[in-house]
Amino acid sequence: MTAGSFVAMLSAMMAMLPSLKRITNVQSLVQRGVAAAERLFAILDQPDEADTGTMPLLSTRGEIEFRDVSVLYPGQDNPALDHVSFRAAPGTVTAIVGRSGSGKSTLIRLLPRFYEASAGTVLIDGVPVQDFRLSDLRRQIALVGQRVMLFDDSIAANIAYGQTEGMDEARIRKAAEAANATEFIDRLPGGMDAGIGENGGLLSGGQRQRLAIARAILKDAPILILDEATAALDTESERLVQDALNRLIPDHTTLVIAHRLSTVEHADQVLVLDAGRLVEQGTHVELLARGGLYAHLHRMQFREPEAG
Ligand SMILES: Nc1ncnc2c1ncn2[C@@H]1O[C@H](COP(=O)(O)OP(=O)(O)OP(=O)(O)O)[C@@H](O)[C@H]1O
Ligand SMILES: [Mg+2]
Repeated sequence: MTAGSFVAMLSAMMAMLPSLKRITNVQSLVQRGVAAAERLFAILDQPDEADTGTMPLLSTRGEIEFRDVSVLYPGQDNPALDHVSFRAAPGTVTAIVGRSGSGKSTLIRLLPRFYEASAGTVLIDGVPVQDFRLSDLRRQIALVGQRVMLFDDSIAANIAYGQTEGMDEARIRKAAEAANATEFIDRLPGGMDAGIGENGGLLSGGQRQRLAIARAILKDAPILILDEATAALDTESERLVQDALNRLIPDHTTLVIAHRLSTVEHADQVLVLDAGRLVEQGTHVELLARGGLYAHLHRMQFREPEAG
């Protein structure tokens, strides 16, 4: 090799080095992309929810009936719900109590058809829920759960989530007011447009719950499902949340998984579940007098200060 071509080759190699380094960076970028795509496609490849219903449903009266309903989760030996039957009249409050694992969450999941019953029928206004179109059915149900689903977006967008028609600032604000949420929203920089962080990370538990209640108020669905939080809130936010709920509950058929004494005391009927079976049913006073499981749970669970 001549001295000239040797120098040329050497400088060419030097010139290539930075580009080679960049290629290794690209490699790690591609790796990250592939990993993210795998997670994404795992979700995209999920089968669609079965929606066999054809019946349109504009507005229900909110009459709920469970007829001999059983649920057996795949891979479980014992049914999570075992031949449960009850009725909830329009506009009434039904409290559901029972030990952990007794099937309370399973029961309420059947109404919006998050799960299907293995046997028996769940009816709304006398029609089996699987006959309704899924979107119509879910529009009738507002759900305030223990773990509130929030998105990394503004307060207003989180309250109006899932509803695009005719949503204006004024209606969202009214819902927030009724949910006792404006108290903290107005203190945030940006107010209604303030970001709340990933899954509401910038908000407290009580504030997240009030956003969920505002969402339910805005939705104004005839059927309301509540899963009361077990986690203790401080007295002040507890009062604000309870107050917002009291404003929400009238005029709705309400199913509530109750952890608070005040909820069961005021309910029109209390359902007591034990290992998937409906063992007692009646009002708070009737069930206390009976001295059965409810009376026992009552002594264990609701040892609240009288002043409450
Ligand atoms: N997705 C599932 N797959 C399999 N089994 C489940 C599933 N969800 C719940 N179970 C089982 O069904 C039973 C009832 O569960 P459920 O969540 O309805 O109880 P719960 O009364 O809501 O309890 P808690 O008060 O702790 O929330 C439990 O034994 C539970 O292990
Ligand atoms: Mg539960």
